[in-house]
Amino acid sequence: MRTRGLGRVHDGGRDARRALVDVEIVIEEGEFVCVLGPSGSGKSTLLAVIGGLDRGYEGQVELYGQDLGRMSDAALARLRGERIGFVFQHFHLLHHLTVIENVTTPALFDPRGDEHACLARAKQLLERLGLADRAGDTPAELSGGQRQRVAIARALLRKPKLLLCDEPTGNLDADTGARIIELFEELHREEGLTIVAVTHEERLARAATRILRLKEGRVDTSNEEPA
Ligand SMILES: Nc1ncnc2c1ncn2[C@@H]1O[C@H](COP(=O)(O)OP(=O)(O)OP(=O)(O)O)[C@@H](O)[C@H]1O
Ligand SMILES: [Mg+2]
Repeated sequence: MRTRGLGRVHDGGRDARRALVDVEIVIEEGEFVCVLGPSGSGKSTLLAVIGGLDRGYEGQVELYGQDLGRMSDAALARLRGERIGFVFQHFHLLHHLTVIENVTTPALFDPRGDEHACLARAKQLLERLGLADRAGDTPAELSGGQRQRVAIARALLRKPKLLLCDEPTGNLDADTGARIIELFEELHREEGLTIVAVTHEERLARAATRILRLKEGRVDTSNEEPA
């Protein structure tokens, strides 16, 4: 993943907000990057842009050798479905569906899908995330941390190559948070999953192989060690 001169202005009526300014980053396959920065520094905006969800940017974003700006919406949707898992800051679960249905929704868009294998994978992920007994509940019946784990299971369903997560441990107690971090480390180490995680949390940041800091929409290099 590479950005060149990436900018994003959010339309804010009279005062448009420059959420990203001239961001130049390269993230290699297999990296585990944590994105840190104060509230409003552009972290969620950056994830949405590099994940192909926000197309209103300036500059260039290259993902798996393709220039996102030149792709059709359909091609971009396919790339997202096949390669990217997204854990949103506010989860975006579907409230009329059960937990297991939420986790398997990404498979609805998979033309080659094997329903049986998909259900087995979903169950295995729920098990791993400590939610095996909640498969039939709806999100309304879950705590914030449980919803977050459902969102993580959903993001991992189709074995993405790139996992983008916005505060994935933000709503979790210390133990559950530690389990999620372990899971990320394991997926990173054993399956070569590339992870980009926005976080305020020390422990998650320590697990990363690289820290990227944002400040007022720009990459902040002021804290970096001199080479
Ligand atoms: N949809 C939007 N419409 C207008 N302005 C937006 C929108 N989304 C973000 N912004 C603005 O862009 C800037 C960056 O927002 P962003 O959500 O990327 O920050 P963040 O670093 O994720 O913050 P937080 O840590 O609070 O989640 C902020 O000034 C915000 O007000
Ligand atoms: Mg955010």
